[in-house]
Amino acid sequence: MAKRGNSIIKGIEISEVINMLNKAYADEWLAYYQYFIEAKVIKGIMKDAAIAELEQHATDELRHANMLADRILQLGGTPLLNPKEWFTHTNCGYEEPKDFDVVAILEDSIKGEQCAISTYANIAESVKDKDIVTYDIVSQILADEVEHEEDLQALSDDITDFITSMKKHI
Ligand SMILES: [Fe+2]
Ligand SMILES: [Fe+2]
Repeated sequence: MAKRGNSIIKGIEISEVINMLNKAYADEWLAYYQYFIEAKVIKGIMKDAAIAELEQHATDELRHANMLADRILQLGGTPLLNPKEWFTHTNCGYEEPKDFDVVAILEDSIKGEQCAISTYANIAESVKDKDIVTYDIVSQILADEVEHEEDLQALSDDITDFITSMKKHI
């Protein structure tokens, strides 16, 4: 644990920060697996473009988990040690893919990103002007999640437009 590093945190309990980060850490692992498995089972039109996007997101979520684990350790905490705890700590849950169609998979993923955006916006708000380092880390992750939502929505719109124009020509 970094003593001087932690002494600059003011106005918030370090245990509270660790708790928020561990909950987000659970979300990131579940998001990672959701993207991993979605990229495997997805079916339908333009699925290759969707697979590329889902795989990129899986990589990003794992990188986020890494960033959070490192920050939790710096703060003197312990990242969740048992995957069972992902389900008891998660903010955003896990959306098991039931319909493997591209549009349905993208819809599930967009919901997940919207939840992630709210989660990181809340953490950023809680640590703002109190824990500068955590604020910086969650701001970087938040920017990625905003980009994820945008990428998925743009892809979903492209696919929906393509289907609509195909139907017109049949
Ligand atoms: Fe993430
Ligand atoms: Fe994301």
